[in-house]
Amino acid sequence: MIPKVRKAVFPAAGLGTRFLPATKAMPKEMLPLVDKPLIQYGVEEAIHSGIQNIIIVTGRGKSSIEDHFDVSFEMEQLLSSKNKKELLQVVQSVSEMTNLAYTRQKQALGLGHAVLQAKELVGPEPFAVVLSDDVIDAGVPCLRQLLDVYDFYGASVVALMEVPKDQISAYGVVDAEPISHVAGGDRLYRIRNLVEKPKAEEAPSNLAIIGRYVLTPEIFGSIESIEPGSGGELQLTDALKHLLRSRPIYGYKFEGSRYDAGDKLGFLKATVEFGLKRHDLGGPFREYLKKLTL
Ligand code: G1P
Repeated sequence: MIPKVRKAVFPAAGLGTRFLPATKAMPKEMLPLVDKPLIQYGVEEAIHSGIQNIIIVTGRGKSSIEDHFDVSFEMEQLLSSKNKKELLQVVQSVSEMTNLAYTRQKQALGLGHAVLQAKELVGPEPFAVVLSDDVIDAGVPCLRQLLDVYDFYGASVVALMEVPKDQISAYGVVDAEPISHVAGGDRLYRIRNLVEKPKAEEAPSNLAIIGRYVLTPEIFGSIESIEPGSGGELQLTDALKHLLRSRPIYGYKFEGSRYDAGDKLGFLKATVEFGLKRHDLGGPFREYLKKLTL
């Protein structure tokens, strides 16, 4: 029987240098998209995908993430004394959302290293990894789409997206062969090779890895076996390449829109589009945008 995925790991110890100066004293995971911090979108995606146990890998200066998902006693007191029931519910729903565990990455030594810090909390079972910079708007949550593939094959699955050649070197890139799949249409691939941040002319394809993974626990041994790669960091992509020697890995070109919210332009695009979709703000926001002279 294929074991169920019950846990999701959220690496959140990165320094967020792409978003300075906002991220000088504030975690990039707490940047608000309309009115929710980025990491909450990822946590909600995991919950809507059926995962209840969230493991956040934090680092120095990240305590506001823990505070955000904790009970806010003073805030709740104030809102209930003023009879602000709807806001009270919003605040309480965040702390009641899910089971959270935290572990620390003492040094920012790469995504592979961040995932490795969760080894003890994950244990010998499959798990998901969610990079909260990658905000994905989809009918069926992106992680659920990957879990459907995992539930069928019992092997690791990464989210894939086609990316223009001039941007490909910002990503992990796969060499992959399309395979047919009952539920997956033409979106499923079997991975043949992976390269972290290749030069555009050396990229094996235009299929980039996006920040959603379902991994089998053997990945921890692979992370422990590899050497630092791109940027001198322990890369998850390199660990997947190591895992590929002994296990199959699948890629799934997910359905949905992805925003790189860790990048200033990507964040602005996400803000506009999420704002327009909000039933409470979308109407007046659209009217405002229409009046702008562009
Ligand atoms: C990370 C991964 C990379 C992946 C990307 C997706 O890179 O290392 O393989 O394509 O996330 O967002 P980062 O953006 O942290 O440099």
